[in-house]
Amino acid sequence: MPEIYDVVVIGGGPGGYVAAIRAAQLGMKVACVESRAALGGTCVNVGCIPSKALLQSSEKFAEAGHALAAHGVKIEGVALDLKTMQARKDKVVGENTRGVEFLFKKNKIGWLKGTGRIAAPDTVEVTLAAGGTETVKAKSIVIATGSDIVRLPGIEIDEKRIVSSTGALMLTDVPKRFVVIGAGYIGLEMGSVWGRLGAEVTVVEFLDRITPGMDAEVARNLQRILQKQCFTFKLGTKVTAAKSAGKGVTLTLEPAAGGAKEELVADVVLVAVGRRPYTDKLGLEAVGVALDDKKGVKVDGQFRTNVASIYAIGDVIAGPMLAHKAEDEGVAVAEILAGQKPHIDYDAIPAVIYTAPEVASVGKTEEELKAAGVAYAVGKFPFTANGRARCNGETEGFVKILADAKTDRVLGVHIIGAEAGTMIAEAALALEFGASAEDIARTCHAHPTLPEAIKEAALAVAKRSIHI
Ligand code: FAD
Ligand code: NAI
Repeated sequence: MPEIYDVVVIGGGPGGYVAAIRAAQLGMKVACVESRAALGGTCVNVGCIPSKALLQSSEKFAEAGHALAAHGVKIEGVALDLKTMQARKDKVVGENTRGVEFLFKKNKIGWLKGTGRIAAPDTVEVTLAAGGTETVKAKSIVIATGSDIVRLPGIEIDEKRIVSSTGALMLTDVPKRFVVIGAGYIGLEMGSVWGRLGAEVTVVEFLDRITPGMDAEVARNLQRILQKQCFTFKLGTKVTAAKSAGKGVTLTLEPAAGGAKEELVADVVLVAVGRRPYTDKLGLEAVGVALDDKKGVKVDGQFRTNVASIYAIGDVIAGPMLAHKAEDEGVAVAEILAGQKPHIDYDAIPAVIYTAPEVASVGKTEEELKAAGVAYAVGKFPFTANGRARCNGETEGFVKILADAKTDRVLGVHIIGAEAGTMIAEAALALEFGASAEDIARTCHAHPTLPEAIKEAALAVAKRSIHI
């Protein structure tokens, strides 16, 4: 007799493992199918965690190399030990994956180690990593199979010289010439890592701007700042071919609008042109689960697919491909299965790019408000006028608050500056609570701290900043 569960979650990433834990907390009998050798999904194994570990280490290397002298700290003979840096990253990943495994044990969640296929609306067949198959029954099935990289036709990823983010996290030498295709999250973060460690970084971007979707003023500032670091941008440009020869890769570039071709030689090329929902080998067609126009699983506001017992969350459904969005959906779907009525405010999901300085935003951009015809007021405050930023020697960037012109309700917050990713939590809370700019302006902020710039930007909405 197959084991019968209340819920079987397919995929052990931030969406799936969180759904499994929340469902177990709510008293359900839960199993999670995960094909990787470790839990935690893309995020913990080859995404958020290893990239942030390398960003942290490379930032320390860059600081030791040239940022500490101004503080009166002289260091001579700074040298890179890439093997140790990579080993540390692997250790951090291991600590996190084992952490998820511990949480599974604590919550009595069964980990079915292998690849899941939905054989029927109440049946999951698992091809076990150890060999053989196991069939389990479930009252509800949650698809949380995440996403995979988008490939470019004719450019074969070998994870050595032409790499995806996974290969870019594992390089054993610093490439002299690191070319990135795509000026999005991965391109800018991995470009920062290898640039800080000594690579010349060239980013080839199809559009005429970096980081599409981000507030355009912030994106322009980020581009300017990155250009002062190790980045060269080739915007409005497409890569039409990549040929590996000898030790390098020769790329053929063309203006996106058409025109003369040029060649660019790289030691390592990173393809970072986006990710796609991953539903391969899941058996969705046979069971009749409908997909959306981006080949993601189509769900309603309650994460239900068109098949009554089957739900989906995370990168495999529409919306930003972010770990915290997947986690919130994991909690929500488990609560829905338990008969509760959770709600996610998709306007209050923050996004952070962990460059130096960081860029963080929540809510609407100016472009979105203009397109929607919403009248808004802008409050801006530069970190050059923030006391703590001066103490820290990190004065680049600003906070920008967009508030409804009539009601003063905060509609969007965009921060470029050191610690922006940490500071955006206050703004997300403000949006979640429907705060006005006045609410933020009247909230006492400790001095001297970087978040005082948020308070000042809120004051600037009504043109009454104190420190500028
Ligand atoms: P995933 O994490 O992709 O997990 C899905 C899991 O399902 C995988 O482990 C996969 O092996 C498993 N699976 C798939 N099919 C099957 C099957 N049939 N049977 C069994 N198992 C299966 N987001 C952030 O918010 N912050 C960041 O800093 C950040 N950095 C990133 C850096 C990189 C380099 C990358 C690539 C991504 C980053 N992301 C970041 C995005 C983040 O990783 C994803 O949004 C998040 O992992 C999505 O979670 P998920 O649970 O939907 O899917
Ligand atoms: P992305 O969507 O962020 O950026 C892709 C970029 O490639 C875009 O600027 C796009 O215009 C460009 N592009 C597309 N096709 C192209 C082509 N043929 N030639 C040149 N440029 C092209 O995708 P990315 O960087 O691959 O990351 C995938 C996703 O992973 C992100 O969207 C994000 O959801 C997630 N992520 C999140 C991080 C974070 O939260 N800090 C970090 C890393 C990834």
